[in-house]
Formats: sequence, C-alpha cells, structure tokens
Amino acid sequence: MGKIIDGKAISNALQERLKEQVAYFSMTVGRKPKLAVILVGEDPASQVYVRNKIRACEVVGITSEAYKLPESTESSYLETLIAKLNEDRGTDGILVQLPLPAHLNAKKIIPLIDPKKDVDCFHPQNVGRMLIGNPIFLPATPAGIQQMLVRSKIETAGKHVVIVGRSNIVGKPLAAMLMQKAAGANATVTIVHSATKDISKYTREADILIAAVGRPRFITGDMIKPGAAVIDVGINRVPGENGKSVLAGDVDFESAVKVAGAVTPVPGGVGPMTIAMLMNNAALAAEQAVKNA
Ligand code: GUN
Repeated sequence: MGKIIDGKAISNALQERLKEQVAYFSMTVGRKPKLAVILVGEDPASQVYVRNKIRACEVVGITSEAYKLPESTESSYLETLIAKLNEDRGTDGILVQLPLPAHLNAKKIIPLIDPKKDVDCFHPQNVGRMLIGNPIFLPATPAGIQQMLVRSKIETAGKHVVIVGRSNIVGKPLAAMLMQKAAGANATVTIVHSATKDISKYTREADILIAAVGRPRFITGDMIKPGAAVIDVGINRVPGENGKSVLAGDVDFESAVKVAGAVTPVPGGVGPMTIAMLMNNAALAAEQAVKNA
C-alpha cells in the first residue's frame, strides 16, 4: 500500500508559518494585507472555493473583501470594479474566481487586473514571467503541488513527470514550473490530453503522475507504474450512496493506492495546498506593495 500524502497537514503547517509572517507585517506596517475576492454567479463549486479562501484569510490574518455579484453582472461593471480595486492602495490582491458565467470573457477580464495584485498568477505578464523563470507570483495549485512534493521528499530532478490535462490553471503552468532548472523542479515533463492516443502508455512511464483532467476516477491502478507518486488535482461531485453526492478525485483512489508509492487523497490533498499558496501570494503582494511604495 502506498503512502497517503496529507495535504491538509502540510497546508496547516504552511499557514501557521504564514500567520507569523502576516502578524509581523501587520505590526510593522500598521495594517493587515487585504485580498479582494470577486465571485460572479451561483456556481456551487466556486461558492465553496471562495468560502474556503475567505476562511483561510481569517486564519492567517489577512483582511478579505468579498464581492458576490449576480449571474447577470455586465462586463462593464466588472471592468469598473477591477479598475477601482487596482487603484485602491489598501487592496493588495485581487482574485476573480473562475469559471465566469458564459457571457463574460475571462481572457478579456483577467488581463485588466494589475499584475502586481494578480495573486492567482493568471495575468499574461505573470504567466510569461513564470515561464521564463523570473516570477513574482506562482500560480496557487501548481505551487501547492510543488510544495507538496518537496515537503514529502519526492525527488523531481531527472524524474519523468506526466501531467494529465492541459488547462491554463493547472496543466500548462505546472509543466512550466516542474521543467525549470531549479530546486524542486528539473523534471522531464510530458503533458497528455484529450487528443493523446493511448494515454496509459504515458501514464505508466511516470515516476510522478499528476491528474488534472476533471473526470472522476479517470486514472486507475493499471495506469500507474508501481511505486510512482500520484497527485490528484480533481474535485468532482459524483452520485454516492443513498442519493447524496460525494467528492471524487480524478484518480480512482482504491485501485491507485495499491500500486502507487504515494498518493494524495480527495479531499485533503491538493485542495488545501492551493489555499495555502494563495494566502502566501496575498501576503507577498502586500509586502511588495509596501516595499515599492
Ligand atoms: N477556479 C479553479 N481554480 C481557481 C483558482 O485557483 N483561482 C481562481 N480565481 N479560480 C479558480
């Protein structure tokens, strides 16, 4: 049986450290860091994520300001709000929860955020900086996965990392980070996706297999090399017993844990790490704002 990587415990340890860092900031600067969180519409998963982010702010001592906007919000309203928050010296970080409702274009909205306040690291300028190895921020989920590997003493240098999924939020930035010539990286990275022929051929070659496809239990034990580390990024709602829905990852945990050397659970794996890294970015944004004032 593989080891179960406790993302919640690692996240808690990171947040404890961050709490002290934020307390020091607040004491020396005379105010707390502040994060603006914008949620448009009623997507249930997004509501849960935003609630968790706001709760984490409270835990580490960051002021959060939530803008919960109706589904019908017009693009111009959102654009004006972002412009106002960009100008507001008391706001350090701005986060627009994705996905946006269909009538709003994230590719148009996200670049309006001041790159210095872009704690998600979604702005094209920050994505580019990350790609060339000169980042301000790192994207929260990929950074959380990297931290998890480092803290679990899972070597990445010279190892074959196979990422299933090519999203802008996880697959693509994670590939860029893990291939950097840097500590906690230096891996040989393969991305497979929906157009890849024979995905198992690649997943079975992986020393570290990262599932970020958004398809429940897509990765099964037979697709995993014995002893590999398996990181499950998926959070899917599936029908459970007695009519209630349950959370399932992109990895079929039962069969995976018998083959893998280590595996992350859902919930309690990557999710809490994302939150910790977001808090880290919010604190960093505030420190940079004071430094550059
Ligand atoms: N939707 C899914 N993951 C994320 C994230 O990390 N940040 C934001 N803003 N939206 C998301």
